[in-house]
Amino acid sequence: MSDQDGKVAVVTGGGGGVGRAEALQLARDGAAVVVNDFRGEAAEETAAMIRDAGGRAVASVGDISLWDTGKAMIERALAEFGRLDVLINNAGNSRPRYIVNMTEEDWDSVIGIHLKGSFVGTKFAALHWQAETKRLGAPVGGAVILTTSTNGLHGQPGYINYVAAKSGVAAMATTLAKELAPFGVRVNAIAPLAFSGMTTPIWGSAIFPEEKREELSPEQVATVACWLAAPRSAPLTGEVVSFGGQRLRSYDEWPIKGEAAADGLWSYAALDAARGSLFPQ
Ligand SMILES: NC(=O)c1ccc[n+]([C@@H]2O[C@H](COP(=O)([O-])OP(=O)(O)OC[C@H]3O[C@@H](n4cnc5c(N)ncnc54)[C@H](O)[C@@H]3O)[C@@H](O)[C@H]2O)c1
Repeated sequence: MSDQDGKVAVVTGGGGGVGRAEALQLARDGAAVVVNDFRGEAAEETAAMIRDAGGRAVASVGDISLWDTGKAMIERALAEFGRLDVLINNAGNSRPRYIVNMTEEDWDSVIGIHLKGSFVGTKFAALHWQAETKRLGAPVGGAVILTTSTNGLHGQPGYINYVAAKSGVAAMATTLAKELAPFGVRVNAIAPLAFSGMTTPIWGSAIFPEEKREELSPEQVATVACWLAAPRSAPLTGEVVSFGGQRLRSYDEWPIKGEAAADGLWSYAALDAARGSLFPQ
């Protein structure tokens, strides 16, 4: 018995990189997989790789920043395979620029694909899980994986669109974990570091020297992401995990750094007096 035997999964951006590795891992774990990507041939290729290995898979081609794409890929999973257990929101792009050079299109593209793209599929998956929970009279169960980035967790000059989107995606994990808990659905996020089509042109062999490429492979990220999506990692939910090859880290929401209380209403003088305890060094 494998981890996802009889289960059904959807992976966005499954036509390459980390998403393809996740789709293949889920299939090895026993799941039927719906592979979304806006590169139709790439999505079809991943689905064919799964079928050639004896698994079940179909492609659902579309731009994940669009509402209808999210709806269609969830409907496809239900129509084709009759259930939904796992959604991995992985699709992403990168348009790095300093804010002074960043265009409206750079901003809208990155926010659309990462942030709205993580929302649309999850929204329609949540509607399904809610209906199933009502029908069964008990939590149906399931897992959502969101894909954030250490850039979103720590910040990175030159990437303000990506930082804003990925920070939002991490926040979605902690909040959606609470919203979807009544349906028995766990929501966790992973921040990858992998030698892929997105990162290779930017960082090349500086971050990915030959001897690190296996440890920093999309397949290694997929192992961690699919473990988080598998029943064996229950009851973990609302967790944000960064992958740095052999080192993993888990993160807290923004920790409180300092605190100050007003004796009455705030004034500039009261704020001057409070700054030491509000911003401890
Ligand atoms: N590789 C890394 O080191 C790294 C680091 C931090 C975060 N990430 C995140 O991991 C995820 C996967 O990245 P990757 O390295 O595999 O990138 P990648 O470029 O190799 O793959 C991304 C996939 O998403 C697809 N895609 C892009 N826009 C899409 C859209 N609008 N609709 C549907 N599909 C779309 C692409 O066609 C591609 O197949 C992304 O969310 C990325 O931001 C990756």
